[in-house]
Amino acid sequence: MSLFIIVLAYLIGSIPFGLVIGKSFYGVDIRQHGSGNLGGTNTFRTLGKKAGIIVTLGDILKGTLAASLPVLFHYSGPDWFNPLLVGLFAVIGHMYPIFAGFRGGKAVATSAGLLLFASPILFLALLIFFICCLKITKYVSLTSMLSAIAGTIGAYFAGEHLLFIIMIVLTIFVIYRHRANITRIINKTEPKVSFLSKKK
Ligand code: G3P
Repeated sequence: MSLFIIVLAYLIGSIPFGLVIGKSFYGVDIRQHGSGNLGGTNTFRTLGKKAGIIVTLGDILKGTLAASLPVLFHYSGPDWFNPLLVGLFAVIGHMYPIFAGFRGGKAVATSAGLLLFASPILFLALLIFFICCLKITKYVSLTSMLSAIAGTIGAYFAGEHLLFIIMIVLTIFVIYRHRANITRIINKTEPKVSFLSKKK
């Protein structure tokens, strides 16, 4: 049962909302456009606000749903088994989706969904942090990485030990997946968020 839930979480994380919405409604593979990332930001950038919001919400939902699987199946599992650990597999699925040639997103929205399950208060605090930080930096990528770090610090001070460890892992995922963005920020070629105000 533990293995079944973990595999199911990975498969849920693998649902490529950016690809499904892009191809079905716009005839576009967003990985051929913008940053090439299969995530909410690149959907905003390539397809506009409506598609961006749908894909971001879908990607968040994957993390929340995956972490809820043990509850949904009324399964508590052995000592090592935990909903947050299950959620991690959804994030892995989001980054390396079996349904999209293992070319997925940068772990941000699905991690946020996992955090929403673990601590709605910390999720809300981070959402506010994200919006403020984005207003200041104008870089979604930098804001995403700073938010992951802030979430880790927040989990530490909230005394949420397991969440703290999970947040460290998620932050490593997020930073690792933003390698190209980091290079672009240093080279001053990373695009700023003007695309968020585009209407489509
Ligand atoms: O969530 C991904 C975001 O932080 C960066 O996306 O498309 O600008 O690489 P992108």
